[in-house]
Amino acid sequence: MTNLITTPFNADSTAAEVIAGIELTGRRAIVTGGASGIGIETARALAGAGAEVTLAVRNREAGERTAEDIIGTTGNKRVFVAPLELADRASIAAFIAGWEGPLDILVNNAGLMASPLMRTPEGWEMQFATNHLGHFALATGLHGALAAADGARIVSVSSSAHLRSPVVFEDIHFRNREYEPWLAYGQSKTANVLFAVEASRRWADDSIAVNALHPGSIRTNLQRHVTEEELNRLRSQSGTTTSPGWKTPEQGAATSVLVATSPLLNGIGGRYFEDCNEAGPNQPGTRQGVAAYALDPAAAEELWRVSVETLA
Ligand SMILES: NC(=O)c1ccc[n+]([C@@H]2O[C@H](COP(=O)([O-])OP(=O)(O)OC[C@H]3O[C@@H](n4cnc5c(N)ncnc54)[C@H](OP(=O)(O)O)[C@@H]3O)[C@@H](O)[C@H]2O)c1
Repeated sequence: MTNLITTPFNADSTAAEVIAGIELTGRRAIVTGGASGIGIETARALAGAGAEVTLAVRNREAGERTAEDIIGTTGNKRVFVAPLELADRASIAAFIAGWEGPLDILVNNAGLMASPLMRTPEGWEMQFATNHLGHFALATGLHGALAAADGARIVSVSSSAHLRSPVVFEDIHFRNREYEPWLAYGQSKTANVLFAVEASRRWADDSIAVNALHPGSIRTNLQRHVTEEELNRLRSQSGTTTSPGWKTPEQGAATSVLVATSPLLNGIGGRYFEDCNEAGPNQPGTRQGVAAYALDPAAAEELWRVSVETLA
């Protein structure tokens, strides 16, 4: 890989630091899962810079509460809430139908991690359905709105957990292999990177740039399906010399905000960032960097084809 994008920011940087001096008045953004964890701080930073922000959430009450909080702390009244259940195609279709006008920034942030085996009514494995298929349907459904903006960006929130699994095209939904929550999560997070690769290629002529990222490790509701013991075990394994420390939600939102807004990324798409900089290739035995299979253009194209076919 050549010419990795570097920035003055790092693992300690906050969303507010990354967005300082960036003006988003007149720009419109959607943050999925914007009423919890790093989604809240991503939305707050965008609203603080003047953007109109829609929190796309499945818990309306939490959404209203968060919108009120963000309006209170930023003084920006253009913070809205709209219902979105990513595991339900009808809900996604209704969200898309309700969207009018251009869309400058789509932050595909919502996510489900290491849940026990759950399936959608269609029989799709829930982490893949939520983390990838739902966001795929949302982004492709909003393509016209993104193309109508002047240089839109899509932020695909992935994870270093993508290092746990490629997309296993032979059995994405764990029909013929034993279900393993972390493999399913890893697979879905690889899909988030592959989406950035293929969407950037397909939509370059529409000036839509799509990049993926790992936000770092942040204590949020995401760990709801994981015990404290398992979390400690996971954080101390995999051959790393030191486990990266926990970030605050404000630090965890920084890379999303950088990918959504930084002029340093103008014209850049299909790449993977962590700690506010583009990541190099993963070195075996570490949890940093990006897996070659996650940036593979052939796998990205195949995932797009499979996703269209699945959702048809
Ligand atoms: N926290 C970390 O250490 C970490 C590390 C790597 C990557 N990430 C990624 O960062 C993103 C944000 O995570 P977070 O830590 O902020 O977690 P979080 O606090 O659990 O927030 C995730 C959000 O996604 C929403 N969501 C889950 N399933 C949904 C569905 N089917 N439809 C609509 N919304 C749904 C949740 O809604 P409810 O509140 O209604 O459940 C919640 O608002 C995720 O994509 C995650 O994979 C996080």
